[in-house]
Amino acid sequence: MSTTSDTSTPARPPCRKILVTSALPYANGAIHLGHMVEHIQTDIWVRFQKMRGHQCLYVCADDAHGTPIMLRAEREGITPETLIARMKKEHQADFADFGIGFDNYHSTHSEENRELAENIYLRLQEAGHIAVRTIKQAYDPERQMFLPDRFLKGECPRCGAKDQYGDNCEACGATYATAELKNPVSVVSGATPIEKESEHYFFKLPDFEAMLHDWIRGGHLQPEVANKLDEWFKAGLQEWDISRDAPYFGFKIPGTEDKYFYVWLDAPMGYFASFKHLCNKHDELDFDDFLSPDSDAELYHFIGKDIIYFHALFWPAILHGAGLRTPTAIFAHGFLTVNGQKMSKSRGTFINARAYLDHLNPEYLRYYFAAKLSSRIDDIDLSFDDFSARVNADLVGKMVNIASRCAGYISKKCDGRLSAECSEAELYQRFVAAGEQIAALYEQREFSHAMREIMALADIANQYIDEQKPWLLAKSEDTAQQAQDVYSTGINLFRVLMTWLKPVLPAMAGEVQDFLNIDAMGWHDCGQPLSDHRIDRFKPLMTRVEQNKIDAMLAQTRDELAAHTATEPATGAVESGPLQADPIAETISFDDFAKIDLRIARIEKAEHVDGAKKLLRLTLDLGGETRNVFAGIKSAYAPETLEGKLTVMVANLAPRKMRFGISEGMVLAAGSGGEELWILHPDDGARPGMRVK
Ligand code: MSP
Ligand code: ZN
Repeated sequence: MSTTSDTSTPARPPCRKILVTSALPYANGAIHLGHMVEHIQTDIWVRFQKMRGHQCLYVCADDAHGTPIMLRAEREGITPETLIARMKKEHQADFADFGIGFDNYHSTHSEENRELAENIYLRLQEAGHIAVRTIKQAYDPERQMFLPDRFLKGECPRCGAKDQYGDNCEACGATYATAELKNPVSVVSGATPIEKESEHYFFKLPDFEAMLHDWIRGGHLQPEVANKLDEWFKAGLQEWDISRDAPYFGFKIPGTEDKYFYVWLDAPMGYFASFKHLCNKHDELDFDDFLSPDSDAELYHFIGKDIIYFHALFWPAILHGAGLRTPTAIFAHGFLTVNGQKMSKSRGTFINARAYLDHLNPEYLRYYFAAKLSSRIDDIDLSFDDFSARVNADLVGKMVNIASRCAGYISKKCDGRLSAECSEAELYQRFVAAGEQIAALYEQREFSHAMREIMALADIANQYIDEQKPWLLAKSEDTAQQAQDVYSTGINLFRVLMTWLKPVLPAMAGEVQDFLNIDAMGWHDCGQPLSDHRIDRFKPLMTRVEQNKIDAMLAQTRDELAAHTATEPATGAVESGPLQADPIAETISFDDFAKIDLRIARIEKAEHVDGAKKLLRLTLDLGGETRNVFAGIKSAYAPETLEGKLTVMVANLAPRKMRFGISEGMVLAAGSGGEELWILHPDDGARPGMRVK
């Protein structure tokens, strides 16, 4: 296990025991850059604690339960278990490739979690904190299931906007009760819902009013979060509905026939389940040691600002009610915006982690987020111009530059040896001494401030080299020693700075460790400069961000959306967030229309694409010219049924690079997605290459 892989020298505060979590991503969607804000923030903090020599454990899991997952599995014709296993694999690969160093990654659909959920529930019940009563709810008579708000659509009772969800209107912002929605339909089947009664189980949150009153003010929350909670608190605590009727993918409530725990009940317990799973693999780790009410271990949850209610009200109350410890603190962060706007599918800024990884170095983003993150809950903006400028200036222009300008001479002229003595002891110690302030900033999650301090030191290191002009000193035998001294100092300063950056750039730090030929890079390992020490040949540690890579990532993101909208039902309820429709203009000019080159094409070949869930590769004959087109129609067509048929394509669409190759156009299809999708077939007599007008 990688708890304390960095050996370090003593003279430090005693080792703390720290358990850390990031919120559990839903198993029905891909990891996107919004998730990465959270996991990168958490990972930096955890790596920092480990470097300081503390026992810090970082656990997470997939949040595998709930209606959307059940329905998605059904649509794909697989069991929920198969779906969540596949998603977990993808999620773990995405996180690993971003350098997220979990000590354990588990699933809420696990035996550990079932046991925890049942135990905690039974304890709450025994203590009288569970109420049972009958409520009325929207029910889909066709699909025979109760409908969560997100699975109802209709007209807004206030402004009349069509196609609004069951609880709020995106057009006018009104919120309302589901029953008020006009002409409601079930998103699942299209049926008109009826009202039906059912018995539900409630967690009696008001029982914990006094406890929560103190907890909110007990220093466990950021000030702005405590203020927000205060508002909710004053509005009055309500009992919380923790049960759902079958069919539901989740854990059955003990003592019932067909009631399930609502996904949000067992989700936070998944933190502990993952930790339990870790403890079961390691004899030296003791679950109770971290989680008993009198434990001296610290417990922190990193979360986004949208799920504060669950973590800062329900969760501490549940833990307290069940006789377990409560969190030391909840660390909430803001939301990621892209180019100043909410991430949006239609704008092509809903970027999946994998699309990023296919084109760009993950440590660019780790650094960029670090340079933006603070302990507050302000949103974080990713603007691509700023991203390139920042990474290129700071990491390549300042940091890597120090090493690259010093290493050549040491390798070529000094046989790779640094000077026997550091000629700038004071400057070196000044860099080392900055470590405590930087550590305090990391500890307080003031990462952007920490990055500014480190880059200010990098400027000083570069200035020092500029002023000493070692390239001139190197020209004469008499001053060659001085040249070696200056370059050696440069390398030593670089090593200190790289140590401070290691929580942010673990992969680059690993390469630096090889390059400097050192075995450890713990926080306290650079107290003395390297002297008379052999370093390795310098290899470029990081290259500049290239605009064409960013463009390729964005193009891939747009393609993924195109494939997605062609095959998913038009509701966002089945994915991680509401899917915004492409903006369609009410009218276009004839000139606009005339620009579209629609052609008859014959499908010569249709094939599955390795690794693509939604796409078929079509080879289209345009009457002499052949085009390769990826079409998101796999859910509706077996490829062999398409071969030889005529269809209509947009022939003058700019080619787009996709993960699987270049797509040279688009075929036209109608329908809502899934199996409900038809590509257009012109009558026989039309010939490939003919213009469609
Ligand atoms: N499954 C729940 C969490 C259960 S924790 C016991 C959930 N999942 S989620 O996949 O929707 O979100 C996971 C985390 O990612 C949350 O903390 C959420 O705030 C965060 N983010 C999701 N989109 C985000 C952005 N666009 N920006 C920053 N963080 C975002 O909620
Ligand atoms: Zn409205």
